[in-house]
Amino acid sequence: MSILQADNLKRFYTVKTGLNQKTTVKALNGASFSLEAGKTLAVVGESGCGKSTLARLLTFIEEPTEGNMVVGGQSLADMSDSTIKEMRQQVQMVFQDPYGSLNPRKTVGSILEEPLIINRQMSASERRKKVAAMLEKVGLRAEHVRRYPHMFSGGQRQRIAIARAMMLEPKIIVADEPVSALDVSIQAQVLNLMMDLQAETGVSYVFISHGLSVVEHIADNVMVMYFGHPVEVAPKAQLFTDPKHPYTQALLSATPFVDPTYRAKQIKISGELPSPLNPPSGCAFHKRCPLATASCREQSPELRALKDGRQIACFEAADF
Ligand SMILES: Nc1ncnc2c1ncn2[C@@H]1O[C@H](COP(=O)(O)OP(=O)(O)O)[C@@H](O)[C@H]1O
Ligand SMILES: [Mg+2]
Repeated sequence: MSILQADNLKRFYTVKTGLNQKTTVKALNGASFSLEAGKTLAVVGESGCGKSTLARLLTFIEEPTEGNMVVGGQSLADMSDSTIKEMRQQVQMVFQDPYGSLNPRKTVGSILEEPLIINRQMSASERRKKVAAMLEKVGLRAEHVRRYPHMFSGGQRQRIAIARAMMLEPKIIVADEPVSALDVSIQAQVLNLMMDLQAETGVSYVFISHGLSVVEHIADNVMVMYFGHPVEVAPKAQLFTDPKHPYTQALLSATPFVDPTYRAKQIKISGELPSPLNPPSGCAFHKRCPLATASCREQSPELRALKDGRQIACFEAADF
């Protein structure tokens, strides 16, 4: 069952490029995917490809310029302001930076209590109980309520941020590079915690990462993005063992993996990411693509289904 369906989501920004000049940055230029209940969709792509923009749309922080999404059976296009307010409780966010995302002047107890005070009718003692139980769930101790964020390590702070996101028992957590700022040795612990919480609560994740290796264990499905577009959306095993889009192939061949079956043939891409202020014609990847033909320079490929069911935005990729 799909808990979240995105249909051609777009988000454009107008930026000043000179005294009287403006241009439109297409930060997200058409994302379509489905998130299954209780599963994890990993969103992977280089810096600047639109991942955080997508996260802001999914968590109702910003509205899409175009496109729509259906969350828990409700269409964004039909949602009133009060419905959106309720939906924000259902879709919570965990940010990359565990130092910046927690208020340094508040104790852990009041950080975790806050969503309950605002959104739930509970007595103070009920709230305290819930906070203490949540702290233990994320591997911290009940007596930590009196401490301040700076008294914790980066990994512990991210546990607190995850606890805060879980307080209202959301259906979906959008985690925007939640382990990127952590030491590699700590990353696995936080990933394991997230997987345990998912097994226990059935929460769905949109897990954003700039690299594939981080999502090797946690993902059920993977969406690879390039320059504001999804280029390949596939179940994890398909994408890791047999990537079809030339960009996914290149990304994978640059990724060190724990599981040797995922070791890809070496493909290097040359050239740089295009500038969002001066986007290329046709397929955004064509200047770096080994398969590019004349039509790739002129037309932008839409996501299409291959025989094995995955989605790919490429005219030339082989379908076998
Ligand atoms: N508020 C904004 N105003 C103007 N441009 C933005 C804004 N937010 C993001 N962008 C631009 O949109 C593109 C995608 O950004 P972002 O979603 O942050 O990518 P990612 O999270 O993948 O690094 C970038 O080119 C970025 O500069
Ligand atoms: Mg980002």
